[in-house]
Amino acid sequence: MSRILVIDDEDVIRSLVVEILEAVGHTVTDAENAERALKLLDDAEFDLVVSDVIMPGLSGLELLELVRARSASLPVILVTGAGTYDTLSQALTRGAAGLVTKPFAHTDLQSAVDHALERAKRSRDELRERLLAPTLASALANAIEARDSYLHGHCERLAALAVRISELLQLPPDEIETVRLGAILHDIGKIGIPDRVLLKPGPLDEEERRIVETHPAIGDKLLEPLDLLAAARPIVRHHHERWDGGGYPDGLAGSAIPLGARIVSVADSIEVMSSRQLYQSPRTSDGVREELLAHRETQWDPEIVDLALRLIDEGELILNTGVLRLVEPTTTPAPPRGIAVLLVEADEEHARLISEALEQQLEGAVIARATSVAQAAELQNGSEWSVAVIAHKLPDGLGIQVLDALRAANPALPVVMLTGQGSEETVIEAFQHGASDYAVKGSSYDALALRVRGLVAA
Ligand SMILES: [Fe+2]
Repeated sequence: MSRILVIDDEDVIRSLVVEILEAVGHTVTDAENAERALKLLDDAEFDLVVSDVIMPGLSGLELLELVRARSASLPVILVTGAGTYDTLSQALTRGAAGLVTKPFAHTDLQSAVDHALERAKRSRDELRERLLAPTLASALANAIEARDSYLHGHCERLAALAVRISELLQLPPDEIETVRLGAILHDIGKIGIPDRVLLKPGPLDEEERRIVETHPAIGDKLLEPLDLLAAARPIVRHHHERWDGGGYPDGLAGSAIPLGARIVSVADSIEVMSSRQLYQSPRTSDGVREELLAHRETQWDPEIVDLALRLIDEGELILNTGVLRLVEPTTTPAPPRGIAVLLVEADEEHARLISEALEQQLEGAVIARATSVAQAAELQNGSEWSVAVIAHKLPDGLGIQVLDALRAANPALPVVMLTGQGSEETVIEAFQHGASDYAVKGSSYDALALRVRGLVAA
């Protein structure tokens, strides 16, 4: 069971707590004050601390803080007088693992202790898995890479690619982590291959090849006693299987090969092809692509090959530098939809003034100008305007005609009509035709631009 340290200045209560906990099999050490408890904590390992709150010298809350500062993972349960809500909230904010109020029943204390221990165990396990497994995997991978300088960084690089492919396959996070570990560890069995074979310059003979081909099974066997890395074993064992069944060690084919192993097989090959190796200079992106296509569906899972090709095509996987490199996915952001203004105005000077005012109010706006009804119609084809500003009088007709044409194409398009001084009729007509606003030609174009901005924003 667990090792528990009990602190209480009252002998009767302390003995009671000790008795209750020993009765269910815990090993209990007790102390009559916090100072003594800190000494005991220096000298021995405990799984849990159960402390009174109000004591001469350091209080239980102070002890709690000191314990948490030394070891954040050691849970502390506080035992306190009834109705002390202050203590409760202080205890919780300081990270107590539980609170038991006096007087307590045996079962209250026991269940608080059970919960605290269970939670501590769970977070320890999680921590172990999250921290230790990758560390262990990297340490083992380093052992392989250390023997062959050409492999330096190979495992990490191919793991990054394998993870990216797993993400594209939308695997759940724990499976992606397994792929990562498997990718890092895939060649761990090479530890069992003698240097004369592993590092032999030049082609291998039949016997040597047979020796090299034992490395997946050796790796699988090596990991057998390590529970932490158990999930990665199928990847290690099967990373040299082939889609057509011609691989080793088990001659699995197609989807009978574990998915993680299929992913690592593609990632491993790409990493090797694109790296500087002993006998070959790195292949270019095109070279890798050719190879992938040539052996798609014979050596590799075609779906995974396609994903890798997609990464190359989209510029996310860069292979031309001699070192495989993944860059942040280019999440092709929709081109910032700038504001496009159609300005239909024949007069040069007015057009210039209006454009300037619009540019000032609508930063980055693209302003296209037409000088006639006909030209406006031309510009309208295939264009998506954010807003239009149209002079009423144009050399070949009326602005209302342009307004009608624009409205027909896009009923929601905001349109501002520019009218002459004192032409109320025109204004009314414009509104009847669906204009959003009007401005008098020659008035403040800044005010016009502000209104246009308001229309675009709405
Ligand atoms: Fe291998």
